[in-house]
Amino acid sequence: MNIALLNTELVKDKYLNEIIYFEELDSTNSYAKKNNLGSDTLLITSNQLRGTGRFNRQWKTTPSKDLTFSLIKNIDIRIDEVHLVNFYSSYILLISLKEYLSSFNIQDISLKWPNDIIFNGRKIAGILLDVKDLKNDLKKFIIGIGLNVNSKEFPEDLKPKATSIINEIKSELNIEMILIIFIKNFFEKLYLIKSKDELMKNWLMHTKIVGKKINFRKIEDDKEQPATVINIDPDGGLKVKFEDDRIKKYYSGEISLLYN
Ligand code: BTN
Repeated sequence: MNIALLNTELVKDKYLNEIIYFEELDSTNSYAKKNNLGSDTLLITSNQLRGTGRFNRQWKTTPSKDLTFSLIKNIDIRIDEVHLVNFYSSYILLISLKEYLSSFNIQDISLKWPNDIIFNGRKIAGILLDVKDLKNDLKKFIIGIGLNVNSKEFPEDLKPKATSIINEIKSELNIEMILIIFIKNFFEKLYLIKSKDELMKNWLMHTKIVGKKINFRKIEDDKEQPATVINIDPDGGLKVKFEDDRIKKYYSGEISLLYN
């Protein structure tokens, strides 16, 4: 990892206060939760040993090939709007990837509710959001991002669902450049968190799930239920219609796509 380049591009009078780098680390999100890191810190490792994903799943990466980092950012936001940071972060990651990949004429890169990035029907990135100081106006967000960039091999069970940028475009990419573009966009467009209508409108423009058949899984149980996505409301809630015609709105959970 070229930390010198990241420091030159991103730190001091620019975007970040500090970059903390570990060659190896259990999990950037766990480390950030245990240690008191200041706002505008980027915590990054080349080899994340026990990465965690949503639903307490494992998040596996190939050392030095993929991006695993957590951005620590204090944001003044109401408790009922905390989930907007998920939409914001995934939207910024998506536009940053499109910007970086613009010369490749990429069509099929999109967002999946609530915060995954999908490339040709399979997942390339996920976000794990942890929040500290929930009772304060100023909340500390730990935005953990895993992006499969140059990994070529995936475990058998993940192959139908996961991919990497290199597997889709057949070119090795510079992970530092992707990170630099992401951090710049993240700090330059922060106003969107306060303009939630504009944020959700932008997010919706980059998703393909509306009107599609999905399997929906609630956070609290293991069951998947087939449904159709009716919409994503301006407050971020996912409105689905189940097969028995019940319409429900969810703020958390997971969907898997039944289309490509
Ligand atoms: C998901 O389940 O889709 C979210 C995956 C988030 C993985 C990232 S990698 C960096 C950060 N540290 C972790 O342990 N998890 C997140």
